[in-house]
Amino acid sequence: MLLRMVFTPVRNMTKARNFAFLVMGALLVFAVLSLLSSASSAASDDINKEYSTVPENDSMAVCFESFEDTRRLLYSSTDTDNSVHPEPIIYFVTPTYPRREQVAEITRLGQTLMHVPYLHWIVADDTPVCNNFLNNLLKKFGIPYTHIASPMPEFYRTKKLVPRGVANRRAALAWIRNNNKKTGVLYFGDDDNTFDLKLFSEIRSTKKVSMFPVGLIGDYAISTPVVKHGKVDGFFDSWPAKRKWPVDMAGFAVNLEYMGLSPNVTMPYKAGYEEDDFLKSIGLKMQDIEPKANNCTEILVWHTQTKNNKPPKIRISSGILRNNQVNLGVLLKKLEKMGVSHISQSEGKYLQNDNRRKRARL
Ligand SMILES: *[C@@H]1O[C@H](CO)[C@@H](O)[C@H](O)[C@H]1NC(C)=O
Repeated sequence: MLLRMVFTPVRNMTKARNFAFLVMGALLVFAVLSLLSSASSAASDDINKEYSTVPENDSMAVCFESFEDTRRLLYSSTDTDNSVHPEPIIYFVTPTYPRREQVAEITRLGQTLMHVPYLHWIVADDTPVCNNFLNNLLKKFGIPYTHIASPMPEFYRTKKLVPRGVANRRAALAWIRNNNKKTGVLYFGDDDNTFDLKLFSEIRSTKKVSMFPVGLIGDYAISTPVVKHGKVDGFFDSWPAKRKWPVDMAGFAVNLEYMGLSPNVTMPYKAGYEEDDFLKSIGLKMQDIEPKANNCTEILVWHTQTKNNKPPKIRISSGILRNNQVNLGVLLKKLEKMGVSHISQSEGKYLQNDNRRKRARL
């Protein structure tokens, strides 16, 4: 093709020009051929070169590195030393349901729970029959567990707001009752949450009901108790509704002895009010609540989900931000650093102060 392009015009030209064209053509052919041959011989080296060098226009900075392996079982020293501290068992209740992400989520959660001693995992699946594939997966973690099939009654599936996970949690509560589990700590941990291992050593000492912040919840990207002078004093949640206890399911743990004092413990099929009605059914009082996670200034559990939401902007006064007597300033500044949410004194979503009168005093 290239040769034809060079030689075709030669016929219609004078001898001198013909000669010049011939020389140019020959040079061109020679140049192309030598280029091709050198390229093919160097081809294998080029692959290596391409991946071993950092292109000059890329920007990168090594921020920190360590060549020391200091791994250990996180928080295990206090958890496993039961000669000093006989540990109550944590009953970790996980409602789950068949969907694309189920096995991925259960794998991730199971491998988190593998780090936690003295834990019994209750996995309640929203299916009419036991899922053998799921059971084989659960067995492999080596964690003590109970696998329950607890389908939601058909009636609720057609509702506008489906009370997901309620049949599962009710089944877990029934299992605890039927098996006479009267000591230990109950915790509801969904399969799409992320858990810091510190959470487990925190909730294990729950005397009545402990509470702590949950990240990535609602319009504030956080749901947390408000803690003043080491006591829970109100709640910070973007959807207070008419709830007495506007908290997330993953934001509290309950001591079973305390729960045993209430005869009518239940969770209703009422989407959005599951936590509130459950906590009412165990007769919770404000003074029974123990704040955890360093007076609710740390986030040890996240409602991760497989979604991509924009960080909200929360409007907060400089007074609250600077007030060291209340957890919110420390907590919200931390979330700002993490890029979870932003704080502003002039725009964004207002700190809600309806529902609980106490919140207005902030
Ligand atoms: C929580 O706050 C109270 C009162 O300020 C303080 O006495 C207590 O030590 C704090 N707890 C933790 C874990 O920091």
